[in-house]
Amino acid sequence: MNPSKHSTAESNRRIVIFDTTLRDGEQSPGCSMNLAEKLEVAHALAQLGVDVIEAGFPIASPGDFEAVQAVSKEVRGSVICGLARCREEDIDCAWDALREAESPRIHVFLATSAIHRERKLRMTKEQIIERAVAGVKRAVGYCSNVEFSPEDAARTEIDFLCQVVEAAIDAGATTVNIPDTVGYAVPEQMYRVIAMLRERVPNIDKAVISVHCHNDLGMAVANSLAAVQAGAGQIECTINGIGERAGNCALEEVVMGLRVRNDVFHADTGVITRRLVPTSRLVSGITGMLVQRNKAIVGQNAFAHEAGIHQDGILKERATYEIMQPEDVGFSRSDLVLGKHSGRAALAARSRDLGYDLTQEQLARVFQDFKALADRKKEIYDADLAALIEQQIHVVEDTFSLEKYEIQTGTDKQPTVSLALRRSDGEVCRTQLEAGDGPVDAVFLAIEKLTGVSAICRDFRVHSVTVGKDAQGEVQVQLEHGGTLYRGRGVSTDSLEASAKAFLNAINRILSVTTDAPAVKSDRVR
Ligand code: KIV
Ligand code: ZN
Repeated sequence: MNPSKHSTAESNRRIVIFDTTLRDGEQSPGCSMNLAEKLEVAHALAQLGVDVIEAGFPIASPGDFEAVQAVSKEVRGSVICGLARCREEDIDCAWDALREAESPRIHVFLATSAIHRERKLRMTKEQIIERAVAGVKRAVGYCSNVEFSPEDAARTEIDFLCQVVEAAIDAGATTVNIPDTVGYAVPEQMYRVIAMLRERVPNIDKAVISVHCHNDLGMAVANSLAAVQAGAGQIECTINGIGERAGNCALEEVVMGLRVRNDVFHADTGVITRRLVPTSRLVSGITGMLVQRNKAIVGQNAFAHEAGIHQDGILKERATYEIMQPEDVGFSRSDLVLGKHSGRAALAARSRDLGYDLTQEQLARVFQDFKALADRKKEIYDADLAALIEQQIHVVEDTFSLEKYEIQTGTDKQPTVSLALRRSDGEVCRTQLEAGDGPVDAVFLAIEKLTGVSAICRDFRVHSVTVGKDAQGEVQVQLEHGGTLYRGRGVSTDSLEASAKAFLNAINRILSVTTDAPAVKSDRVR
């Protein structure tokens, strides 16, 4: 690959990091967040140092509008962006949601590829250009920071793409984004498209070139990095790579790629990389999208050296087998943390190291859970602590909490469960029943009976938070109630207790939704 004529060769370029976790990430099945969760993620993204936060697609739903508006009012330090189709009502709505942002951006998009033009939009090339120009101009009427995306750009004829991009910049777009909407591109092609835009679009220097790559062929990060090599100045990405289908370019991977291989890319970002792991944990905890253990940068095994030869090498010289250090991305090297005798101050310090800024009240609750866990488990690892914290900081208003359960079960025997739940008014209610296909089912049935809420269990997953026989089990459930999916999560060294807590957590979410809450599609999860 040859550097294009505008390349700044050896000097470091500052790449704009545009995070779309709250828009492209959130719109993928199973990842939807409520308003409080979106705000929490937005604050975390600002703390992480991302330049632009795409907070949502305001016209898509009242919930999206409210989220973009709330993020605009509250979050400072990053540009806040709202998405709109090239339609007047979309753009007006986006601006309504964004108007209180410290630094707003309107992002308008319109598909340009032949298949989208002919089959989806039924528009000619001329009509596309006309609509794109009108959209950009309307957005510019509201705010000076306007991004234009020719959707499916990677499958658009290059001559036409150049024409659309030129027209959008002429109309006032300050960023032109090149999406690989269906994850079809390969790195060499992405490089060529960006290089060609830089060569052939006469006004290209008036805008930042951006890339937005989907991961259908597993090449989103590689494609984004190739675009940077060709001169792109902005990367669109999401935490943990969540997003439509196979997801989007993973922020943590692309940022660390630029940093670790600075010798190749000569570019850096404003991301505070030691906040990558805490932010990844936050998004995973809120969305319920687990991060695979061997995931680059933020997976639990990303820095674990198992092979004897590797361990020996690491002890002699870290660089033998480590291209970056765990501390750089927010992992701590000494994973073994606290024990039975650790005090509140040690717990607070460790929580801060893990990236959690707990209130006194949250700390008190986590400390209580920590002491209970230390009675059951000798060694408490970072992941144990993070699981306890996550459970406490994402609390929904608990109508019911688990007081006690007992179960008798066995092969070919119908389980008998006794369950006691405490209501928020302090009253304890109890039931005993002999029912269910197995112990988990029996506990679920007993909870349904006591709470008066029945739901269909659509997903049930258990994983161990750390290693060892005494590891905590984390259970995640999705319950369907009234056509909507609700998420629940519970952690305990006893996996049945974790199941009960997860089920109850989802039931509490159902109970916390008021009757006037906006209707959501059934593939959206609360
Ligand atoms: O993938 C895509 O094309 C998009 C656009 C709206 C930028 O998400
Ligand atoms: Zn996308």
